[in-house]
Amino acid sequence: MDIAVLPGDGIGPEVVEAALPVIGKVGLDWNLQFGDVGWPFWLSDGDPVPDATWKLLERTDSCLLGAITSKPAREAESELPFALQGLDRKFISPVIQLRQRLGLYANVRPVADIHEGRFNFAVIRENTEGLYAGFDYHGLSNPLWELVKDHPNAAQSGADNSSVTLRLQTRAGIDRLLRFGFEYAVSQHHQLLTLADKPNVLRSSSNFLRSRLEIMAEEYPGIETEILNVDAVALWMVRRPERFGVIVAENMFGDILSDLGAGVMGGLGLASSANLGDHGSYFEPVHGSAPGMAKQSKANPLAMILTISQLADHLGNAEEAERIRKAVRTVVRDGTALTYDLGGRSTTREAANAVLAVL
Ligand code: NAI
Ligand code: MG
Repeated sequence: MDIAVLPGDGIGPEVVEAALPVIGKVGLDWNLQFGDVGWPFWLSDGDPVPDATWKLLERTDSCLLGAITSKPAREAESELPFALQGLDRKFISPVIQLRQRLGLYANVRPVADIHEGRFNFAVIRENTEGLYAGFDYHGLSNPLWELVKDHPNAAQSGADNSSVTLRLQTRAGIDRLLRFGFEYAVSQHHQLLTLADKPNVLRSSSNFLRSRLEIMAEEYPGIETEILNVDAVALWMVRRPERFGVIVAENMFGDILSDLGAGVMGGLGLASSANLGDHGSYFEPVHGSAPGMAKQSKANPLAMILTISQLADHLGNAEEAERIRKAVRTVVRDGTALTYDLGGRSTTREAANAVLAVL
């Protein structure tokens, strides 16, 4: 397997460097090919994803990413060197570029109880449409204003002082996400698929979702399904996480639930994720580049190590993936080689080496 490795910036390079030896240790013979991505390349070239990196992604089977600093467009542009300013360079977050260009519509975040093994589920977030499809308006032009003008608050505020965001949901988008969710449930031996939405309030769109769910569920008789209000799912994720198998949600609801999932499993230092489509994928820890912590050897490498395990699972190396997860579990339960965020005093490398020692 050819795997692109994009360490990125901030704490990305240090967690990647500490975690990579795990791959060889469990006997995975991946051919790692390193590439550039991130803030330094925005500053030097006006594009955080250089052309050579796109070519690398084309010729490799999947990708491991560390972390990447991202800033709002205006701020990003003001930090460009003088020579690159005024050339209409638009900063688009590299992870968004990857998701769009590679068609990665499903974001998968496993949520497992590392300490006691009490729960093990996954949040699958739709990545391309829903409330984040990009139809977000402040100051309403006529067709939108016509739609909302009779709402008493809109009537009081006027078109210029109202905003609207459209939640786009399409049969194509819903079906491929649900298909992915069912297949993921089958492959990971989950018996329950929960669709987290808001059927009580968003009656038309949620019912559309429900009808697509019911049609597809007939093809998967071994998997039970339910559609629950997203707020109730949030409550149950905290109170009874063991009740869930696969939770599927549109973009924004999924964004919120997946961060909640990281919290439920004990923080960003343990949370891994995958972005998957029909023709590409990349894997990254949930955490960002934590620039204030970079180069201090404080960052927890376990999220990156669990990310490698998630990639192994995806590539069909379930046994190696489980060995890595088990070794992480052993280190967390043992508690003597943990970084600060899990209550320890170990460095990035000491924590990673503890996992290697177990393996
Ligand atoms: P962050 O995840 O970088 O940091 C949030 C907090 O978690 C910080 O207090 C940090 O100390 C802690 N933390 C994060 N990773 C940790 C680790 N491995 N071990 C121990 N503690 C850890 O999120 P923040 O501060 O909101 O964003 C920083 C930068 O990262 C921004 O530029 C943001 O755009 C970017 N970002 C990138 C992501 C990606 O590469 N996919 C995801 C999230 C944020
Ligand atoms: Mg988020």
